[in-house]
Amino acid sequence: MKRVFLGVTGASGAVYAKDLIEKLPAHGCELHLCITPDALTNINLELQKNYTAQEEFLSDIGAKATLHDYKNFAAPVSSGSFMVDSYIIAPASMGFIGRAAGGISSNLIERCADVAMKERRKLVILFREMPLNLIHLENMALLTRAGAVIMPAAPAFYHNPASINELISFVTGKIFDIIEIEHNLYKRWGETPQSV
Ligand SMILES: Cc1cc2nc3c(=O)[nH]c(=O)nc-3n(C[C@H](O)[C@H](O)[C@H](O)COP(=O)(O)O)c2cc1C
Repeated sequence: MKRVFLGVTGASGAVYAKDLIEKLPAHGCELHLCITPDALTNINLELQKNYTAQEEFLSDIGAKATLHDYKNFAAPVSSGSFMVDSYIIAPASMGFIGRAAGGISSNLIERCADVAMKERRKLVILFREMPLNLIHLENMALLTRAGAVIMPAAPAFYHNPASINELISFVTGKIFDIIEIEHNLYKRWGETPQSV
């Protein structure tokens, strides 16, 4: 069973976090989850909910995960000695990206990203921001050099998506490709009717 840490920060794109929280355990992963207060604000705005705590969000979704408080540096995931296969930050705020690039572990998600890079483990950072300034780009280049995989939340259209869910599934599927989880979340090029 793969152990995966998912950190959710306050960028737009709550639907991506929700999809990952539902699909990681459904694909046999042990999920460790941490949501920042600003992420919960965005979840409420974008999913039109009124959660007062991350526990309420998780129980509403009905997915299985171990929740960690964003300020709990004593959580097992805070240490490199706790074995985690992959770390995903989705959606990642530009504030998170800046702090991670600066080596600043001011909360558990930033600490986990730092641990992932120092232990040379898989770290996927999904951002949604647009356009990007030079600071964003340079921070992302630095994180890439430190081993992170930076992914824009930018679904493809070559599989002829018919719904928003299919667009979201494509992004989740691309993350699963990187962290090596078998899935059937989108049609690959070569499996589509129009591929040559
Ligand atoms: C509706 C809404 C959308 C936001 N979208 C983004 C975004 O796409 N990218 C980003 O970097 N910040 C975005 N923010 C701002 C972040 O929430 C803010 O920078 C926050 O401090 C991030 O904190 P965190 O990284 O601790 O979660 C948004 C805020 C709101 C209220």
